[in-house]
Amino acid sequence: MAIELTTRVIKADAAAIDAAAGCLARGGLVAFPTETVYGLGADAADGIAVARLYAAKGRPAFNPLIAHVPDLAAARRLARFDPAAERLAAALWPGPLTLVLPKAEGCPVAELATGGLDSIAVRVPDHAVARDILVAFGRPVVAPSANRSGHVSPTAAQHVLADLRGRIDLIVDGGATPVGVESTIVACLGAPTLLRPGGVPRAAIERVLGHALSEAPHQDLTDEGEAPLAPGQLASHYAPRSPLRLDARNVAAGEALLAFGPKPPGGAAHMLNLSAHGDLIEAAANLFSHLRALDAVGASAIAVMPVPHEGLGEAINDRLRRAAAPRP
Ligand code: TXA
Ligand code: MG
Repeated sequence: MAIELTTRVIKADAAAIDAAAGCLARGGLVAFPTETVYGLGADAADGIAVARLYAAKGRPAFNPLIAHVPDLAAARRLARFDPAAERLAAALWPGPLTLVLPKAEGCPVAELATGGLDSIAVRVPDHAVARDILVAFGRPVVAPSANRSGHVSPTAAQHVLADLRGRIDLIVDGGATPVGVESTIVACLGAPTLLRPGGVPRAAIERVLGHALSEAPHQDLTDEGEAPLAPGQLASHYAPRSPLRLDARNVAAGEALLAFGPKPPGGAAHMLNLSAHGDLIEAAANLFSHLRALDAVGASAIAVMPVPHEGLGEAINDRLRRAAAPRP
């Protein structure tokens, strides 16, 4: 998969904000400053743009992404807030705090961006450039840190350029990011739980809550590290109920088929094709929604055709392998 774009770097002024919003609307990839680190933004509702974002980062797995919005009202369209989440948002947004919450009914964010999960990470950044882009664009923007997989998070436009030149469309240069570490991530899916330490100190969060945060069981929550793969250990992995049969070249009686490419085998009562013309970007964009849809038909198993292990195929195969692993 050849990615060769001309990456423009522009100073953060009014014209740059318009250019960034226009680029996002066309499905482009835009790096922009937040108060923590530079983010690499894409239209959260555009599965193809999200797939291109994973390809640009060069990460061999689909880690769920944070949806960035300009204010609490916009966040409510994506996620459901329990009383603890309400208090944290009221006290600490805008700011370097990400909340992991149950997805709202009708949440427009692409399945790929949330890793097929029923939860979503949301944040309101406290940076004028980020906010202006979000307001101008008018829809949620998913943005991981704007670095290549395995590299450290960028705190200056030059870091982004060094990592992602030729792989993204635009870098909005708003100078050095003031906080310099990523946002603190707290899950409010039950007892509020610290998933990643970051820009808001734990004590500040506990003061707002009036009690201690729960500790997450050890898991990989940096998007850079290798995942510790005890299957099923990671709450953040979508798992279908139907068993998956990988590398399928035929369909057994009672099986549904998750196909890839122009020549799927016949015989499946239920078949969905990740990409009829073998496009891995399109396949990534379809992966979780197709898995969900086939899981819902109640087949004896989901037969999955082989997906080439190149480009985004590596991340697709990673997720398929995890989804196929036996559960404890
Ligand atoms: O400061 C930040 O948070 C920066 C700026 C750009 O906003 N963004 C950032 O994104 O650090 P990223 O993708 O590098 O890290 C997001 C983390 C990942 O470790 C991911 O696993 C976790 O958030 N995450 C996202 N959605 C999740 C979910 N539904 N459940 C658990 N963890 C989630
Ligand atoms: Mg990161």
